[in-house]
Amino acid sequence: MDLFEYQARDLFAKHDVPVLAGEVIDTPEAAREVTERLGGRAVVKAQVKVGGRGKAGGVKLASDPADAVAKAEAILGMDIKGHTVHKVMLAQTADIVDEYYVSFLLDRTNRTFLAMASVEGGVDIEEVAATKPEALAKVAVDAVDGVTEAKAREIVEAAKFPAEIADQVVAALQKLWDVFVKEDALLVEVNPLVKTGDGRIVALDGKVSLDANAEFRQPDHAALEDKAAADPLEAAAKAKNLNYVKLDGQVGIIGNGAGLVMSTLDVVAYAGEKHSGVKPANFLDIGGGASAEVMANGLEIILGDPDVRSVFVNVFGGITSCDAVANGIVQALELLKSKGEDVNKPLVVRLDGNNAELGRKILTDAAHPLVQQVDTMDGAADKAAELAAAK
Ligand SMILES: Nc1ncnc2c1ncn2[C@@H]1O[C@H](COP(=O)(O)OP(=O)(O)OP(=O)(O)O)[C@@H](O)[C@H]1O
Ligand SMILES: [Mg+2]
Repeated sequence: MDLFEYQARDLFAKHDVPVLAGEVIDTPEAAREVTERLGGRAVVKAQVKVGGRGKAGGVKLASDPADAVAKAEAILGMDIKGHTVHKVMLAQTADIVDEYYVSFLLDRTNRTFLAMASVEGGVDIEEVAATKPEALAKVAVDAVDGVTEAKAREIVEAAKFPAEIADQVVAALQKLWDVFVKEDALLVEVNPLVKTGDGRIVALDGKVSLDANAEFRQPDHAALEDKAAADPLEAAAKAKNLNYVKLDGQVGIIGNGAGLVMSTLDVVAYAGEKHSGVKPANFLDIGGGASAEVMANGLEIILGDPDVRSVFVNVFGGITSCDAVANGIVQALELLKSKGEDVNKPLVVRLDGNNAELGRKILTDAAHPLVQQVDTMDGAADKAAELAAAK
């Protein structure tokens, strides 16, 4: 989960990384009072989860409270690379002498963590990385040792930070590593980290991405989620503990096991090429123990997707046998009917593996008018695509 700058700033403050005072607002009028509180001047910054805000006109200096209202008015509602600005952060102004870059991230290729740092920070860091890679120091960070004082010094020396601020940058790096570890982040980036006129080191802009797999031990992180931006179907699926991802096609997909569902998406996309280009509408893995309730929850989400025209239920019976899944499907359809749900989209079911024959018989005997069975995965994908194209 990527955070907004103001949320990153709050996490930095929580772990004693030096930051400037700032407040987030969503109406221009609110800028007046906040700017007064910040000392009469402020930097007005668009809060969008995309880089290059400054260059797009989303970061502006306001010289007094009235100017802050005008700047906030100009920035709120602005479109930055397809992201609408709904909030702006007003931050204290810094007297910047120099701009640096520092970050920590997970380096999957090298199976380690990585620190990156440069004394040529600021809005052109991407350019620096591309044209002057030697100006961007990269130092591996061991997962067990972390960023000790010695490691922080190694980073500071590799990036050639000036001697007079070295100690402050070492301290800032250790605190940023605290943010990285204690908040379960995958990325902590500061650009720019600045030196101010009075010789202090301050994080002026932060980008933090949190590891969603650590949610279970980070109860505070749920509050950081941008609920307004979440897809409503994905939010509903999450509330039911389903592994669901909305895609842009027309064939609803339910399967058991992430690998099977991934390959189901492939075969449906392939079959769709012969049927007016229909595509998978979602990823949904109902996992191993596909009970009637889980099947009903999954079907409810998929049938509630207005883009879905047909549904492909692809199950390979393993520990959960096909008869249990077949009973799950029959009961799920009854459950949805009794809840008054409008079940009116054709379902193509392919059962294979443990107890497949019994499972198929259960579905045949139930003779639900919307359910049809196809014995092979490719055949079922073709049928589901054909039904979606015909609708
Ligand atoms: N509080 C501040 N006081 C003075 N100048 C600031 C302040 N915040 C930002 N700036 C200036 O504006 C520039 C751009 O700001 P910032 O880094 O927040 O946005 P950005 O880099 O354009 O956005 P993004 O990180 O999304 O690419 C900074 O490099 C800095 O020069
Ligand atoms: Mg920046």
